[in-house]
Amino acid sequence: MINVSLKDKVVIVTGAAKGIGRAIALKMAEAECTGLVVNDLKIDEHAESLKKEAEAYGAEVLLVAGDMSNEEAVKKMIDAAVDKWGRLDVMVNNAGISKSNDLFGTTASDWDLVININMRSAFLGTKYAAAYMKDHGGGAIVNMGSIAGITGGNTSPDYGASKAGIIALTKYAAKFLAPYGIRVNALAPGTIYTDMIKRNFENLSDEAREKRLSAIPMGRMGDPDEVATAALFFASDLSSFITGDSLMITGGRNT
Ligand SMILES: NC(=O)c1ccc[n+]([C@@H]2O[C@H](COP(=O)([O-])OP(=O)(O)OC[C@H]3O[C@@H](n4cnc5c(N)ncnc54)[C@H](O)[C@@H]3O)[C@@H](O)[C@H]2O)c1
Repeated sequence: MINVSLKDKVVIVTGAAKGIGRAIALKMAEAECTGLVVNDLKIDEHAESLKKEAEAYGAEVLLVAGDMSNEEAVKKMIDAAVDKWGRLDVMVNNAGISKSNDLFGTTASDWDLVININMRSAFLGTKYAAAYMKDHGGGAIVNMGSIAGITGGNTSPDYGASKAGIIALTKYAAKFLAPYGIRVNALAPGTIYTDMIKRNFENLSDEAREKRLSAIPMGRMGDPDEVATAALFFASDLSSFITGDSLMITGGRNT
């Protein structure tokens, strides 16, 4: 029998009220996780409705507001999960932002903001989840990279750099944490239809938009659920001998 069940497991997904994070959180609930922490900057109607949907699968859900680039907020969230369920098995560091300014349009403060939020949140989430997991039977950490972290991307210099940093962090942490039974992998999605992409596309000319779409060999954007399935693969025992990997989910796009 193929085992993709997360029964008895506790999972945290950051930046999960909307978009890819939401799809990942629901996928973990569908895979029967026992406890699910849904984090986002604020707990709004999106987070509340996600809680209801996840509970319908039988998961117990904790909503935790917090900026994942803030060290105290990350520690507090992990403590809340451990206090409630006495364990933490899967940490999905999904929270992230993007800007769509090109090299000349990117200011130093844009750079600092994108690098800070994206890389710092993955670093802090990895560090503090692993600090707990290493003394409690191991676990799986899934970091949100991007195809832009492999190719440099085509829109802005800061975003691809931040995601390349996350992929390097993933490779380092995979080696460092393997002796503790902790696997660390990254997802590298291409263009996935979420608010982030809608916002980016708003700033593009029709021609640039067409160029972005025609660069996808499968001829369409991805659905958040298609990324969530890959997250479940890395979170579950199906990937028991895979660590330090970055999985492209791009419909064939490699530019
Ligand atoms: N959509 C894509 O095409 C695509 C492609 C590759 C990678 N990604 C990555 O996937 C992740 C999710 O992207 P999305 O498209 O769902 O974006 P989104 O903007 O739709 O959702 C991101 C969520 O993260 C939250 N968030 C932002 N900063 C946060 C912080 N500091 N702390 C906690 N939560 C925070 C937001 O409030 C939002 O709910 C991001 O890391 C993004 O870089 C997206």
